[in-house]
Amino acid sequence: MYTSKITGLGHYVPENIVTNDDLSKLMDTNDAWIRERTGIEERRHIKKGDGNSTSVMGVKAATIALERAKLAPSDIDFIVFATLSPDMYFPGGGVQVQDMMGMGTIPALDVRNQCSGFVYAISVADQFVKTGMYKNVLVIGSENHSGGLDFTTRGRSVSVIFGDGAGAAVVSRNESGTGGILSTHLHSEGKHKDQLSLQGPSTEHWVPEIIAENPQEDIPYYPYMNGQFVFKHAIVRFSEVIKEGLAANDMGVEDIDIFIPHQANLRISQFIQKKFQLPDDKVYNNMQKYGNTTAASIPIALSEAWEKGKIKEGDLVVLAAFGSGFTWGSVMIRW
Ligand code: ACO
Repeated sequence: MYTSKITGLGHYVPENIVTNDDLSKLMDTNDAWIRERTGIEERRHIKKGDGNSTSVMGVKAATIALERAKLAPSDIDFIVFATLSPDMYFPGGGVQVQDMMGMGTIPALDVRNQCSGFVYAISVADQFVKTGMYKNVLVIGSENHSGGLDFTTRGRSVSVIFGDGAGAAVVSRNESGTGGILSTHLHSEGKHKDQLSLQGPSTEHWVPEIIAENPQEDIPYYPYMNGQFVFKHAIVRFSEVIKEGLAANDMGVEDIDIFIPHQANLRISQFIQKKFQLPDDKVYNNMQKYGNTTAASIPIALSEAWEKGKIKEGDLVVLAAFGSGFTWGSVMIRW
């Protein structure tokens, strides 16, 4: 059995900054409400004509990750692409990355696990590398939320939270013999699928049916989120899955050097920080600048934290996510 290691990280966000004040011109909201409830100050949105899409942003993040891993596209054996906002209903983003990066006929897999997408995708890459089947796996989380949100007052409880962007990691066979991905821990609970979902268009709710059956003010082609219900479950599951990761490695909270949570809401991150009594310098948050970028949020934060020198060799890095499904998971990494 081999071990696996993250050998390169990269991220990309669109240039277009959308502040809370910008949103208050489109809907009945305000900077104070958004900051107080979520911690978010601004987010990035793709601007029509800027050339970005979910897969294009994924390629931009992946190009940086490959450079840092000192690998060429031809060195990649497998692509795992996590998103809830693919450019097309099908095929997924992975094959588009394979084409745009000229990667030959390597396999490409899309992961549909929303905010837990990157954690699930890292876990998939980890298994393929550990068994020896692949040597270098490109893992991408990318989202174009702004293309599918309701920017009227009707959608304000959801649309102020989400932002666009992409992050990528190269998971490689660990040749150094030290450190690497220690363990991954995944869960789901589908009975709560409706609490955070986008129900149509889908095979159950196709476009003509949606238009015929739903009044204009109640259309199910925007995301729905039962915010307080999600919040309550998030704080419980985050805690459980961090504890699970620590226990699996015979470690305690004091062993954590840096905790990078999915960037859903600053209040959720702060709750977990307080619960585990982690000092500020051991928790990395950036949703203030980017909002919730779902599958991209952890790789953007991980890449940014690494760029800022907050992750050093030998550090215990803990990643954890919770989101739609519900799905949740953690990744324990010795850097
Ligand atoms: N601006 C102003 N007022 C608003 C806005 C807004 N953008 N949105 C809602 N409100 C109003 C509501 O209408 C409500 O008004 P009322 O009291 O008159 O009815 C009031 O503000 C309070 O609304 P709540 O929904 O109760 O606010 P809450 O404190 O729960 O915050 C939030 C909402 C931020 C969504 C929070 O519940 C949350 O962050 N939940 C968790 C989100 C999460 O973790 N998601 C998981 C990841 S996402 C994924 O997997 C895709």
